[in-house]
Amino acid sequence: MNKSITVIYGDGIGPEVTQQSIKVLDAVAQKFDHHFTYDRALLGGEAIDETGMALPPETVEKALASDAVLFGAVGHPKYDNDPHAKVRPEQGILGIRKALQLFANIRPIATYKALHHLSPLKAKQLENVDFVIFRELTGGIYFGEKTLNAEGTVASDGCTYSQFEIERVAHLAFQFAQKPQRRGKLTLVDKANVLETSRLWRKVVQQMAPQYPNVEVDYMFVDNAAMQIILNPAQFDVILTENLFGDIISDEASVLTGSLGLAPSASIGAAAALFEPIHGSYPQAAGKDIANPLGSIMSAAMMLDHFNMTAEANLVREAVSWTLTNGFVTKDIDPVNFYFTSTIGDLVSEYVQGKIPDAVNRENIELRKSTII
Ligand code: IPM
Ligand code: MG
Repeated sequence: MNKSITVIYGDGIGPEVTQQSIKVLDAVAQKFDHHFTYDRALLGGEAIDETGMALPPETVEKALASDAVLFGAVGHPKYDNDPHAKVRPEQGILGIRKALQLFANIRPIATYKALHHLSPLKAKQLENVDFVIFRELTGGIYFGEKTLNAEGTVASDGCTYSQFEIERVAHLAFQFAQKPQRRGKLTLVDKANVLETSRLWRKVVQQMAPQYPNVEVDYMFVDNAAMQIILNPAQFDVILTENLFGDIISDEASVLTGSLGLAPSASIGAAAALFEPIHGSYPQAAGKDIANPLGSIMSAAMMLDHFNMTAEANLVREAVSWTLTNGFVTKDIDPVNFYFTSTIGDLVSEYVQGKIPDAVNRENIELRKSTII
């Protein structure tokens, strides 16, 4: 199969983690006889430096013309503490979500036994934790009207949702909950005891529920959900929520796995879909070859799922599990005995190509280990 992929490295560790995904995609292409082409485009801080814009129009054109977008990370500390900055890297990612109408952001939370010891939760609470967050991505307070009075002393951000916006993402979440590998449970997370928009979400989802009789629906206020994700995360199967709540609870949920560096995401919409790790640009690690590429690689696996390349996606996930269970991990996971970003990318690709025998040639791999102690 032929697929054209727009590659956006973005800022910080974006380039080095995305390059590992490309290695893995190339290995998949070789093994399964596909043809992937990559076209680079600018976004975020790197785009501001080169063009003065966080989202150059050319990037949107390329993305719209491709089958999918593989995205690294966005953000630079020089903008974070400058509330006056008119152009900000984050405008790039928000802009492309809007331009491609990426209304559903899908963030799976899976745990690995090999990483249980790194999780802030006890191993017992992590058993059977496997849920997916469907976050609405192009509406709500992120895109509402923003005001600041002339004196700069009063500000507001409007939050608006329409029935249409709620329905289109809710349909995807209901359909997902029905899949054989899911448990048929959908939890709507909202703040319907206070917010009008949340009451609309609840009403719309309640109206839709009869169309999906084999999905059990429950409703949870976001403050309680934040607590339940820590107390009893195994209760969740599919969580559906609005933009800001989804942003917050998905960062919270991703640490259950033991490392934010592992969590992938897919953003689906009307045009080309976009795949990106949940983590940010981690500027302190940029260029050091120490960042965890697995969030990006797992996002590339979600891209393969999106292309209906299920065997290919499963093989990538198997390769990732293999690295973790054999202790081939980056510094965030093992600060003493760690492997470089690029080595993890090589190992995952080699596994995909079937080059790593069952009896792992440890000595060879040890040579690619970090010497920093
Ligand atoms: C995310 C990020 C973005 C968001 C930022 C970078 C604008 O936190 O993808 O979760 O808030 O959506
Ligand atoms: Mg976020």
